[in-house]
Amino acid sequence: MSKSIFILGANGFIGNALTKRLNEEKKFKIYGIDINNNNLINLIGKKNFIFKKGDINKNISWIKNTIKKCDIIIPLVAIATPNIYVKNPTKIFELDFESNLKIIKLIVKYKKRIIFPSTSEVYGMNTDKKFNEYKSSLVVGPVHKSRWIYSISKQLLDRIIIAYAEKKKIKYNIFRPFNWIGPKLDSLKLAQLGNGRVLTIFINSLLKNKNLVIVGNGSQARSFTYLDDGINALVKIIKSDKINGKIFNIGSPKNNIKIKSFAKLVIKEFNKISNKKYKGKIIKKTELEFYGKGYQDIPTRVPDISEAKKYLKWKPMFNLQKSVNKTIKSFIESQ
Ligand code: UGA
Repeated sequence: MSKSIFILGANGFIGNALTKRLNEEKKFKIYGIDINNNNLINLIGKKNFIFKKGDINKNISWIKNTIKKCDIIIPLVAIATPNIYVKNPTKIFELDFESNLKIIKLIVKYKKRIIFPSTSEVYGMNTDKKFNEYKSSLVVGPVHKSRWIYSISKQLLDRIIIAYAEKKKIKYNIFRPFNWIGPKLDSLKLAQLGNGRVLTIFINSLLKNKNLVIVGNGSQARSFTYLDDGINALVKIIKSDKINGKIFNIGSPKNNIKIKSFAKLVIKEFNKISNKKYKGKIIKKTELEFYGKGYQDIPTRVPDISEAKKYLKWKPMFNLQKSVNKTIKSFIESQ
């Protein structure tokens, strides 16, 4: 057994896929904790996977003991849906920031290697053609725009990790997912309430023949990245001992698309897969109508992935059409 890995948030979108992948490799002992276990049903009970169902705030002694036992800790617990940043910013502060800070301090105390999920959101409204981990400024809006509370929480945790790691000689890596999509991205029930990412909100609407809503004029763009590409990068980070202190954007620059074109692509792919043709249409709503006054959008977001290419020998393999198609298929099949 080469390494023991502790994944907090093992049931989540990234967590369940990473747990599955690491378990398949049979080289790792994996510990996981999550408040839910619905995405892990086929993994619970497998050899070398130890799972605790529970709240990270209520299981501190189990977490402490597990951190002590493990080589690498990956704290993935976080709410990552913009609607919640706007509607319940204190929840983002308490869970994404405060709860994770406690975990980070334990990791520092026991001098373990941390692999931390930052976010593409830290670059905010920067207008660079591509966002670079070491050069791009992190640009956010005024404090009453609570959309930025997630970005800022993650940014401060990034900075705290770097500061502690340098002081206490802890090994760390930070990775920044750029709009990863794939199976189990969000539950459709939550997407129905607006508490999902754009693709799951669209898929829920497609399945119910509701109109797809474009927020603003739809010229804002994202670089959608397929989950398997992201997981491949994470496994490379986990396996490498020569990348201490590196930060990696993990995204697909070639999959950059404006949201208005994305909506059309999603409908096209849905109609290819589904046996029922979509009957709704694309409509527009203002940011205020859709999210409320605490929202502000990010106009452009393309990752510079030269660091990941150089140090991880990684590049994304899934094009946009394939990524969207596979994600839609997974949701239709799980209906
Ligand atoms: C996301 C979230 O903050 C996090 O999940 C994550 O850390 C990060 O980005 C990432 O994965 O890179 P964002 O891309 O704004 O932020 O989230 P989405 O909800 O997927 O929205 C993408 C775009 O689609 C936004 O411009 C939004 O206004 C728009 N949108 C969303 C629509 O036009 N219609 C909808 O129904 C929903």
